[in-house]
Amino acid sequence: MQKVKQKNDKATLLSQLKADIKAKNICADLAENATNLVMGVGNPNAEVMFIGEAPGKNEDLQGEPFVGAAGKFLDEMLALVGMERKDVYISNIVKYRPPNNRDPLPDEKKAFWPYLLQEINIIRPKIIATLGRHSMEYFLPEMKISTVHGQPKRIRLGNDRVVILPLFHPAAALYNGAMRETLISDFETVPEIIELINNENK
Ligand code: URA
Repeated sequence: MQKVKQKNDKATLLSQLKADIKAKNICADLAENATNLVMGVGNPNAEVMFIGEAPGKNEDLQGEPFVGAAGKFLDEMLALVGMERKDVYISNIVKYRPPNNRDPLPDEKKAFWPYLLQEINIIRPKIIATLGRHSMEYFLPEMKISTVHGQPKRIRLGNDRVVILPLFHPAAALYNGAMRETLISDFETVPEIIELINNENK
C-alpha cells in the first residue's frame, strides 16, 4: 500500500507556526488592535535572514514586513549587494504592530522569542542580520549596537552555530546621514560574510 507522504516542507511548517501563534493567543492585547499577524516573507531557503523589531502601520495593513519607507531603504541596500527580496528572508521579533508604533515592550519580545527561534529553525539561515537593537539584544545580550554594528559574531543557537550581523535599523538610519552611511557600509559586507562561511564549509 502506498504510504501517505508526510507534509513537512518549510512552507507548511511556517504556516503551522503562524496558526500556533494565533491559537496560543500570543500578545492578545496587541492582537486585538492589529489588522494582521505579520509573519516573515521571502525565500524559505535563504542564506540570509533579516530580523526587524515589529510591524508598523503599512506592515500591519498589508500583512508583510518592511513594506513602508524603512522597507524601501532595505530594498535599496539589497540591490546594492545584488540581491532582491526573493533571495532573502525578512521577519520581525514581534509580529503584531505595537500601538502608535511605540517600541515593543520587553514582555512582548519575550513572548515572541520562542516563535522567532522556531522560525529561524525552519529557515536555517547562515547569517542572521539583526535590524536595530530590539532584535539584536536576544542574540547578543549585553552588547551595544553602537559598538558592535557591522561586526559579525558567531553564536550557538540550539544545536546550530550561526553568524549574527548586527545592523542599525533602516528606519533610524533613513534620515540620519552618518548612520545611513554606516548602515550601508555594514550592509555591503553581507556577500563577503556569506563567501567566508561557504568557504569554511568546503
Ligand atoms: N520596522 C520593523 O522593525 N519592522 C517592519 O516590518 C517595519 C518597520
